[in-house]
Formats: sequence, C-alpha cells, structure tokens
Amino acid sequence: MCGIIGYVGPRQSQDILLAGLARLEYRGYDSAGIAVIDGDGGLGMRKRAGKLSVLRDDLASTPLADGTTGIGHTRWATHGGPTDANAHPHLADDDKLAVIHNGIIENFAELKSELMGEGVTFRSETDTEVAAAMIGREYARTGDLVSAFRAVVSRLDGAYTLLAMHKDHPGLVVGARRNSPLVIGLGEGENFLGSDVAAFVEHTRKALAIGQDEIVAITPGGVEVTDFSGAPVEVEAFEVTWDASAAEKGGWSSFMAKEVSEEPEAVANTLRGRIHEGRVEIPELDGMDEFLADIDRILVIACGTAAYAGMVGKYALETWTRVPVDVELAHEFRYRDPVLSPRTLVVSISQSGETMDTLMAVKYARARGAKTLSICNTQGATIPRESDAIVYTHAGPEVAVASTKAFVAQITALYLLALHVGRVRGAVDPVAAVEAVTELEAVPGKIARVLETEQTRIEQLAHWMADTRSVLFLGRNVGYPIALEGALKLKELAYIHAEGFAAGELKHGPIALIEPGQPVFVVVPSPRGSGEMHKKVVSNIEEIRARGARVIAIAEEGDVAVLPAADEVLRIPLAAPMFEPLLAVVPLHIFAMGLAEAKGLDVDQPRNLAKSVTVE
Ligand code: G6P
Repeated sequence: MCGIIGYVGPRQSQDILLAGLARLEYRGYDSAGIAVIDGDGGLGMRKRAGKLSVLRDDLASTPLADGTTGIGHTRWATHGGPTDANAHPHLADDDKLAVIHNGIIENFAELKSELMGEGVTFRSETDTEVAAAMIGREYARTGDLVSAFRAVVSRLDGAYTLLAMHKDHPGLVVGARRNSPLVIGLGEGENFLGSDVAAFVEHTRKALAIGQDEIVAITPGGVEVTDFSGAPVEVEAFEVTWDASAAEKGGWSSFMAKEVSEEPEAVANTLRGRIHEGRVEIPELDGMDEFLADIDRILVIACGTAAYAGMVGKYALETWTRVPVDVELAHEFRYRDPVLSPRTLVVSISQSGETMDTLMAVKYARARGAKTLSICNTQGATIPRESDAIVYTHAGPEVAVASTKAFVAQITALYLLALHVGRVRGAVDPVAAVEAVTELEAVPGKIARVLETEQTRIEQLAHWMADTRSVLFLGRNVGYPIALEGALKLKELAYIHAEGFAAGELKHGPIALIEPGQPVFVVVPSPRGSGEMHKKVVSNIEEIRARGARVIAIAEEGDVAVLPAADEVLRIPLAAPMFEPLLAVVPLHIFAMGLAEAKGLDVDQPRNLAKSVTVE
C-alpha cells in the first residue's frame, strides 16, 4: 500500500524514479509524484491524481529540471481522497524539503492542531503533510536532516515509512521505518531506497534489510543506519534471487496472465531443495525438531487469498501431523483474547510479507509466548523478519494485485510443512508420506495440462458470460476453500457479486438464491476411492439444476457421472483428493481473469485495491 523510491548517485534521477514507481505501482495506483533536487540546487516537484501514466505524460510535456537526487511515490489513499493536492511528495520548510510516506500516522490530528496553533498552514488533507511540517520545523532548528527525523519519529504513532530530502543537501535521502517496509539497494557510486526490491532490482540485486524503528541515510558513497535513539545498527545483507525481467510482462497481455501461466513453476520452485530421497525435509526448519514434536496446536493466520490457502492447508496439516489446526483471519485474531501457549505454532501466510493485519497478529502471538513461522514470498519482508522461522515460497515476484501463483505456492509450502512436521512427530505413515511426495512432484505437470487443455475454453465461457451479474461457487472438503477463492477472485477482478459456499450448506440457506439461469461453479471431488463425497456433490448439482441453475462443474478427467448433471464440465487431471485444490483453482483463476477482460477491466490493477495492504 503506497510504493516508495529514493535515489542518490551520478545519474539523472527522473527516469530511475519513474521506472521504479512502475514496478511499485501494484502497491497503490490512485496518484503519483516525484521530487528532484536539480543541478542548480532547486527542488522540483510534480504530482498528479490518477495512475502513474498521468504523471508520466505530464512530465513528458513539461519536464522538471534534471537532478541526481530524487524521491518518488505511488499512492493508495488513506487520509484524503486521491487528488493532486493529497498526492505525495509533500513540501515543508518553505518548499525546500520534500517528504513521502507509506502508512498511517494515527495521532496526526492532534499534531496538526499543534502545528496550526503555531501558524502552520496545510495544503492537503493528509497525515503525511503533518509529518513533513514537523520534520521541516526540526530541520529549521538544527540544519541536520537525520537528527530532525530522530526528533520527529518519537512523536509519531502508527505505521510509517517516511523518506525526505532537502534542497540544501543534494546527494542525501533520509528514511525511517516503523511497521512499514523499506529496503536499501546498494549500487556502485549510487544507492537506492525502496518499499521493496522491485524498486531498484533493475540496477542492483544487492540489498540491505532495514529493521523496525531504524533511520537510514543514503549518499552516493554510503549508507548509514541507526536506531531511533541514534545508535548505529548492523543491517542484514541479501542478494535478490530474481532479476528485473522476472517482474516484467514479457509479451503477456497482463501480469495476471503471465502469473497464471507461471503457476506450474511456482509449485516446482517451492518444492525445490525440500524433498530428499522421497521425504520432505525443510532445511529452514533445522534445529526445530524438538519444538515441533511437542506442539499441541497450530494456528494459521492470514488475510484474503492467503487465508484460503491456509484453509486448504488445515486439511493437510491435520491429516499428516494429527495436531489440531485453526485458521483465522489475522485482523479478527488480534482483537479477541485468543488462547496461546508456548506449545502453539502460529503459521502466518503472506505473499508480500507486509500485510499489516498479519504482521500485527504475528507480533501479538509472539508477545504472548507462541512460536511463529512465516510462509512468505518476498525476501527480506517484515513478517518473516518478525517471525521465529521462515519457509519462503519461491513463486517469484507477483505483480498483479489478485494473487494467483503465490496461492498455489502457499498451498505447496503448507503441504511440505505438514509432511515435515508429520515426519518429525512420527504422525504420518511413511508410505503415505512417499505417496504424498510423488503426488506433489506431479502437480506442476498437471497444472500445466489444465492450462494447455482448458484455458481457451474457459476464456470463451467467460466471454459468453460477460453480462453475468452474480456467480455462485460450491465446494466440499478441500474444494470448499477453492470455492471461496473462486468467488473472491471474481469480486476483486470483475466487480460482480460472487459467493462461495460449502456444498453441504446449500440446503441450509444458499439454495434460496438459485433462480433460473443462475451460474454456479461446482468443484467436484473425485469419484474414486469411497466416492462418498462425489455422490453427495453430484446430488447437490441435481438439486440446483432442478431449480434452474446453470452448472459449470470442475471435475476430474474420466468422471462421467457428472456429465448428465452439469451444463459445462471443465476437466482437471487425476490426483489424490488432497492435491485436487492445486488443480481445481486454476480454471477459476482463468475464469475470473477472462470475465474481467471481457468486461474491459484492468485485471492487474482492480479498482480500490492494493496488493500490499500495509495499513490496518
Ligand atoms: C490484499 C490483496 C489480496 C491478498 C491479501 C493478502 O487484500 O488484494 O490479493 O490475498 O492482500 O496479501 P498477502 O501479501 O498478505 O498475501
């Protein structure tokens, strides 16, 4: 939520800032702005409501004077609507200081009235301008930007990453972070700051992670990090494992189309290095056996799509570890009085590793004595850094706001975790574990087959359904969270009413929604094995068909029983029931994308959303 970039070095900064903002635009896209200290020591600033392209066009027609020190921001509005005035940067100290911000300053109203009492006037409705005015006031006293930051951060409540530069100090950008992301990119004779490495990966893959409550000053020749009291701190260096091309569309019509096509690879990369001679060993969990053998409860916390991955994971975790598992939305978890103990393993799931609700829940669980394990897709992000253990998904950068390849990677990581913990506890039958590993290893090929055989047909179906006003999704057992995910994707991307239900719940209420022509997607479990659930779901289909529903079934190849019952059947390859979600979700991702495209909507940047929700 809000993307931030800072640059100091020998190069003209405007293009670097705009290219970095383009890579960060998934974090917010309702307005954007840059500020540059030009060669004559002036400070130029331009900001515009709308997507980054509006700012880009504006700068192309009336450029700012060039300069080699700059900051840039892409916004997701919190305080104050998306207008030119509320866009960042915000200026202070007689327009000599420019400030950008990600987060929410909770006590901004009282700070604002204090400043207004001193005669300060404001040009926006934002909390950021209050922080800018405070930094400006401090700077005016001391002439030292770093100490001005130090004085101000101690007065700010809430979450923030703040970046500032002052026209009297070309070649210096200062930043501070509390509960919002900020990383440093180390170049040759130039340095960068960014909300994440995407901001600068095109220029350098060497990065430093800044910890909580730290202040950083970058110059072309160096980086200095101190804590809020001014004491120097050690920073953790890491190498970005992907290059800039991984975060580019590469010929696809959208990032989402590219990312759906990468689902097989996301699963394969998440498995890599974690299966040894047919058994799951997650190297990152070395040294945790004693604890894992002793846990008496697993609590999974996440938001959005990641929470649905958690719901799928619950089935695998309980089956293979025999430990009771609860899944809870992070923002609900923290505001009750949950029972936690040192024997509770709290597993957080987050693609970005920055979701504020999830971060706060992790901190809360840790403070109450639970051990926390983060399943995360973004190296160096805050949630893994705040957790006791990390299992990274290796889905590669995900840019489209709606999560797709990260979802299948999260489920994969949860299955690996379940098999690892099950082995450590001696809870999983070794033969079953080997079979599960074989199934997991086959998933990438099977997803690729779904894409190959079904994609065009699903896109066609989506096209025919472009006028649909409401779609329902049904699933049972591991298919239930997939129904929820299918509905969420449709809401996010196509802005139509969509609901997911447990198929067994149908008769307890949702069946009243069925009227002639109502499209219903049904995730059909395999008829093999006992086939118990299959029969029940087919009966559910018949019940809604009898009331006029138009049924689109997602069923395994060779399931003929479903044919007379459904209007359309989308096929997935045969897999053991536990692994069906990884296949059944793929048609739903394609469908949501196809329907949004058929309606002419922007699938990468749906309205009102941001990929990384760094405010509560
Ligand atoms: C936002 C996105 C969702 C995502 C959720 C959790 O709401 O729009 O697509 O699932 O955040 O994000 P995370 O980065 O924690 O997985």
